[in-house]
Amino acid sequence: MSVSVLVGSQWGDEGKGKIVDILGDRFDIVARYQGGANAGHTIVIGDQQFVLHLIPSGILREDVECVIGNGVVIDPQALLDEIKFLEDHGFKVKGRLFISHNAHLIMPYHKIIDSINESGDNKIGTTGRGIGPCYIDKYDRKGIRIVDLLDKVELEKKIRRNIEEKNKIITNVFNKEELDVEKIVSDYLAFDEAIDQYITDVPVFLDEAIRNGKSVLMEGAQGALLDVDHGTYPYVTSSNPTSGGACIGLGLPPTKISSVFGIVKAYTTRVGFGPFPTELLGEEGEALRTWGAEFGATTGRPRRCGWFDAFLLNYSRMINGIERVAITKLDVLSNMDEIKVCIAYELDGKRLKSFPTTESQLTRVVPIYETLPGWKTDITNVRSYDDLPNETKNYLSFISEHSGFEISIISVGPKRDQTIEL
Ligand code: GDP
Ligand code: IMO
Ligand code: MG
Repeated sequence: MSVSVLVGSQWGDEGKGKIVDILGDRFDIVARYQGGANAGHTIVIGDQQFVLHLIPSGILREDVECVIGNGVVIDPQALLDEIKFLEDHGFKVKGRLFISHNAHLIMPYHKIIDSINESGDNKIGTTGRGIGPCYIDKYDRKGIRIVDLLDKVELEKKIRRNIEEKNKIITNVFNKEELDVEKIVSDYLAFDEAIDQYITDVPVFLDEAIRNGKSVLMEGAQGALLDVDHGTYPYVTSSNPTSGGACIGLGLPPTKISSVFGIVKAYTTRVGFGPFPTELLGEEGEALRTWGAEFGATTGRPRRCGWFDAFLLNYSRMINGIERVAITKLDVLSNMDEIKVCIAYELDGKRLKSFPTTESQLTRVVPIYETLPGWKTDITNVRSYDDLPNETKNYLSFISEHSGFEISIISVGPKRDQTIEL
């Protein structure tokens, strides 16, 4: 039985939600390993659209068990809202959701600090969900974890101690209003009742499951280029979406992983600030945004759009160990007369051998493009590879050859059945 990692291969929003849902009927367990409610994973079933932020995208398949690993930062209110939303729509969550006792909790001060940081000069363009400040507290060993909900006396002590410290910063350094300690304490003491039933020793749970022959799909949030170590730092998120993060974020050893599957959008998008070599700033970018409905699933912000970047994908393939990919949103390119693909970068007149991750280099690189003919045909109803126009097949072989991966799924629309498997 297999244990696979599914990673976003670009800057997030590649269509991970749809593909996890598609693959969900082949796995027993879907497990999220990092990020938090900054993620927005969309699944369309019939006419209904679901956007999941914290709960794994396998939850919409009734036979799948879902795990939230220690690497995820959990906003308890967002979690409870999501559970309620799913239950209101007829999905069973109790008994199917398992949350790591070691996952850290997002506290109200994390969101406040996130928004204060974003109001200064060094903006990242975060989602404002308190992600960075929560991971800071984790690594500073001041975080409050899911397991802390089980001991009310200790929980209260930890919250009061942290708020005393945060209040000094919030009032003295930033001149903002003091946090309401009593309200935060009483809110967080109350979360225990609703969340206790989901708390699980996840490494033990997964180890037993795998020994019993169950298969696991590890669902990444964000994307490789938003990785805090391997992405376009500092314009990244504060966790490790790359495949290595899956082991740390779930307590699963690397020896258990059998494959890494990448999700790749047929063009490129990015939300927030940071360099984006193939970005289209004019009408073509606007057209891609409109055709692809490129607006954030979490914040509603317009996504920046640009051409497919095979040079970037080669880097992503290398750091993730991606073997096979799903190409999503291929239908969005159907209106284009010509389609460009970036195959290399030049810097100061020289071709680069490897992808530069520094802001200063990435803002100066010149993308080298090859231009391919468009297919100018609606492909949203195509269900087999053979029925795709020749120009579409050429585009697929071109990007696969230049990025070094094999394509095994092609998505031609947001719905479940708008999928071609090779
Ligand atoms: P994720 O964060 O990687 O799960 O991706 P998002 O859900 O944030 O964004 C992907 C968007 O594209 C969602 O609105 C999906 O419903 C939609 N989508 C997924 N696959 C396709 C596709 O093949 N074609 C089109 N047109 N839309 C798609
Ligand atoms: P999914 O899982 C796209 C981006 C933000 C910002 C940077 C840091 O839906 O693909 P953060 O709030 O994490 O501190 O913001 O990361 N970002 C995403 N972009 N998709 C996401 O998630 C993202 N999650 C965070 O826009 O640039
Ligand atoms: Mg998203």
